[in-house]
Amino acid sequence: MPAPTQAPLWSDLPHAPAPGALVGSRDALADGQATLLALDTGGGAEQPFRLLLLRSGLAVHAFVNRCAHFGVPLAARQEHLIQTPLVSLTCNVHYARYRWADGVCEWGDCEGESLIPVPLDVDRDGTIRIGMHPTEAPRP
Ligand code: FES
Repeated sequence: MPAPTQAPLWSDLPHAPAPGALVGSRDALADGQATLLALDTGGGAEQPFRLLLLRSGLAVHAFVNRCAHFGVPLAARQEHLIQTPLVSLTCNVHYARYRWADGVCEWGDCEGESLIPVPLDVDRDGTIRIGMHPTEAPRP
């Protein structure tokens, strides 16, 4: 297996949202599910910033919806997202499987690499914003 390549930081990707940008509401996310979100951050509908929002009770963490294998979305539409709630996400192209808690690829062509975490701040009222600490790791 080749050595894992260094993943870019979410904030270095095209059309990355600014820290503090509004993402949405926790109440709109099904508990125990991963939800696709396409944020328009200036790239228009053709070039959104694609997120995976993973809700575990009151906690929400996020990854860029970008497979470590070919850099394409794990799924382009919600109904195509393959997930085992609270356990794993699976790319629907070549079926690499990522751990829910930390985004590490535990099976497939990019084993040992990771989804790119995106820090979030969740207010008491459930409002979700892009976090202020760009290198913060996701919380399990
Ligand atoms: S593009 Fe995701 S596993 Fe190949």
